Amino acid sequence: MAFNHPQTNFNLKPQDFGKDFAFGVSTAAYQIEGAHSVHDKGASIWDQFTAKKGNTFKNHHGQIACDFYNKFEEDILLMKSMNIKNFRFSLAWSRIIPNGIGNVSQAGIDYYNKVIDFCLACCITPWVTLYHWDLPQALQDKGGWTNRDIVSWFENYMEACATHFGDRVKNWMVLNEPMVFTGAGYFLGVHAPGYKGLKNFLPAIHHAVLCQAAGGRILRNLVSDAFIGTTFSCAQTTPFRDTPRDFKAAKKADALLNRLFVEPSLGLGYPTEDVPVLKRIEGYIKPDDLKNAAFDFDFIGVQNYTREMITHSYLVPYLQAKIVKASKRNVKTTLMDWEVYPPSIYNMIKQFHQYKGIKKIIITENGAAFPDTLMNGEVEDVDRLHYLQSHLEQVYKAKNEGIPVEGYFVWTFTDNFEWAEGYHPRFGLVYTDFESQQRIIKASGKWYQGFLGN
Ligand code: GAL
Repeated sequence: MAFNHPQTNFNLKPQDFGKDFAFGVSTAAYQIEGAHSVHDKGASIWDQFTAKKGNTFKNHHGQIACDFYNKFEEDILLMKSMNIKNFRFSLAWSRIIPNGIGNVSQAGIDYYNKVIDFCLACCITPWVTLYHWDLPQALQDKGGWTNRDIVSWFENYMEACATHFGDRVKNWMVLNEPMVFTGAGYFLGVHAPGYKGLKNFLPAIHHAVLCQAAGGRILRNLVSDAFIGTTFSCAQTTPFRDTPRDFKAAKKADALLNRLFVEPSLGLGYPTEDVPVLKRIEGYIKPDDLKNAAFDFDFIGVQNYTREMITHSYLVPYLQAKIVKASKRNVKTTLMDWEVYPPSIYNMIKQFHQYKGIKKIIITENGAAFPDTLMNGEVEDVDRLHYLQSHLEQVYKAKNEGIPVEGYFVWTFTDNFEWAEGYHPRFGLVYTDFESQQRIIKASGKWYQGFLGN
C-alpha cells in the first residue's frame, strides 16, 4: 500500500538510501514498559524521582506507561504490520540485576528473551541500548554515576546482557545520550536522580565516558559479529547575533552539547580549550583513563531534534553562554518549544563525519511532539508527518554526498512517558490511549508504513 500525504512533495523511496539502510523505530524501557515492580525487579532512579511530588508534569510516572511489558507481542505485531523491520529498545538494568550488582534475575532474562525472540520471529531486527537512563536505585544509593565504582558495576551488567542475549542480538548501543543524563540528572537536577552542580556533573561525565568504552570492549569480547555503537544527543549551535561574543558562546555550547562525549571515545580527550571549566574534570582522571576512554566503535548513533541559538550572557556561571528559546524567535516550534529546523540533522551528520575515527553513522532518534487530536478515531498529525519527511530528506542529502549514514530510527513508536514532561508531549507514530491502552496508527504512522512498504 503506497500512502503519500496529499500535501507533501516527498518522493524518496527506501531503496534510495541503499539496500542495507536500516529504517526503524526507537523506544526506551522506562518510557514504555511499566510493570515497574513485577517479579523481583528492583526500583530505578526514575521510580524514585517520579515518586516525589513536583518532579514531573502532574506527578506522572512510568509505573504502567504503555504496558509494553504485557503488550509486547501486540506492539511488535503492529510494528510488523507497519513494515517496520528494525526495533530499538533498551534493557532495564534493575529488571536484569535487581540490586544493580549481584544476582541476575531469571524473570528479567526470560522477559527480554521473549521480546527478542518475538522480534526475530516477526523478522524484526532488535537494536538494543544497554543504558537508557534508568539506573538501579540501589546503585544511586551508593552515589550512582558520581561513584567511580560504577565502571565495574556497569561491566558486570554488560557481561550479563552480552552473554544472555548476544547469540541473537547483534546490534548494540552502550549508552543513550550521556550528555542528557549527566546534564539534566546530575547538573540541572531536572531529571533523575535530581542532583545538581559541578561536583556531581564532572565525575558523572567522566565515569560515563569510561563506561561507554568499557561497554564497547565487553561487547567486542563476548559477542561474535557484533555491530557496536553508542548514541549522542546533538544540535547545531548557531550564534544568535553576528557578533564575536555570540560566536564564542556558540562554540562553547557546541563543545558542551556535541563534543564532550564523542571526543574522548575517539582518543581526543575532553574539549577543555573551548570550555575551560571542564579542566576541573582532571581531578577525577586517573592514569590511563584517557587511553581507556577510547574505543573503536563500529558506528555512532546520532540523535537530533532541533538546533540551538546561542547568545553570550555574563549571568550564566561557567559558560557565559545561553540558549535563546525558540518561542522568543518567531520560528516554527514543536510542543517541546524546539525549533523545527531540518538542516540541523544534515549539519550534525557532516560535523560528526569530519572526525577521522567515525566509521558509520546511524540516526538512532529523530522525531517531534505536536498537540495531536484524536477525532473520529483518527489522528491527522500532518505536522509530524512533514517533520519526518523533511528530516529524512536532509539525511538523504548527507547520504547522497557519500557520507556513510546507514540507518534512520523514528523517535518513537507509540506515545509514551516523556520523562519530566510526563505523558503530555506525544512523539509517537502510533497514538496511545493511556486509559484503555488502545493503539491508533496516526497519519504519520500510515505514511511511514506506506513509505517502508514501497
Ligand atoms: C531523547 C531521549 C528519548 C526521548 C526523546 C524525546 O533525548 O533519548 O528518551 O525522550 O529525547 O524528547
